[in-house]
Amino acid sequence: MTEMESTQFENFDSFEKRVSALWEEYAKVYPFLIHSSAYKGLVHDFLEGSNVENLRTGGEVLDLGAGTGNITNALLEKNPAIKITAVDNNDAMVQYLNNRFSEDSRVSVKKEDIGDLDVWKKREEVFNIVASNLVLPYITHLNGNKGKDVLPELIKYVYGSLSEDGTFVWSSPKNEVNFGKVFKDAVTHLDFARVPGHSPIKGLKSAKRILSHANEIAELGRLGIFYFPKEEDIIDIMKESGFRKITIKESFVKQSNVITGKKI
Ligand SMILES: C[S@@+](CC[C@H](N)C(=O)[O-])C[C@H]1O[C@@H](n2cnc3c(N)ncnc32)[C@H](O)[C@@H]1O
Repeated sequence: MTEMESTQFENFDSFEKRVSALWEEYAKVYPFLIHSSAYKGLVHDFLEGSNVENLRTGGEVLDLGAGTGNITNALLEKNPAIKITAVDNNDAMVQYLNNRFSEDSRVSVKKEDIGDLDVWKKREEVFNIVASNLVLPYITHLNGNKGKDVLPELIKYVYGSLSEDGTFVWSSPKNEVNFGKVFKDAVTHLDFARVPGHSPIKGLKSAKRILSHANEIAELGRLGIFYFPKEEDIIDIMKESGFRKITIKESFVKQSNVITGKKI
């Protein structure tokens, strides 16, 4: 551990508070993100990686860090015959999920901390697909691990939760992510000018709030609190857990990778 890293981790509790405040605030503007062309592209690439359309009726999906449920919703639109467990640990996100899917018996919402080892040990269900869009690189702790050591450990637990023919699809910001490029792309495509119920000015303000949260995420990545692995490290981490047929696709205006792996 470098000197800079050890100083960060001495202050880890204050970072944990900062991270949970970030998600609390993000919940207020996150639903707006669905109007960005770049995010729509990311959802498209993510669905393609999930192969959800080929899942049998009643097939089980785990959406880890479901947020406001955009991925849960998109997976169900692509294959209405599946069941989804949507997990998040942030109260505001869980409330949003509960409201959004209250009438939908295919969705079960759970408040769980992905970084809580007990959750993984107690999990009895086996899933055909584990989906986690822009979440796993933000998990700050697991099993006493912090920083870079969390992700490889976490992915081993994901592997253990999959059925024999299971698929894992997840995404991560690129190692040197610049979310400003996503914002610029949205401006270029006039994404904010066409949001129902929002004037263009209000749309632009919401997008700027999203950008400021996204910039904070990037900063936490630079500080080593979050971990945005390079492509070669992604391959190693996935292989070490036992995943095969690993693919990485650049998405989100080249600012994120969509990664897939098969258990067999
Ligand atoms: C960037 S959002 C992504 C939301 C959603 N997957 C999407 O694509 O729209 C990250 C989500 O991860 C959740 N999250 C972060 N840390 C978590 C943890 N330890 N346990 C469960 N959820 C967590 C946050 O609350 C937030 O909803």
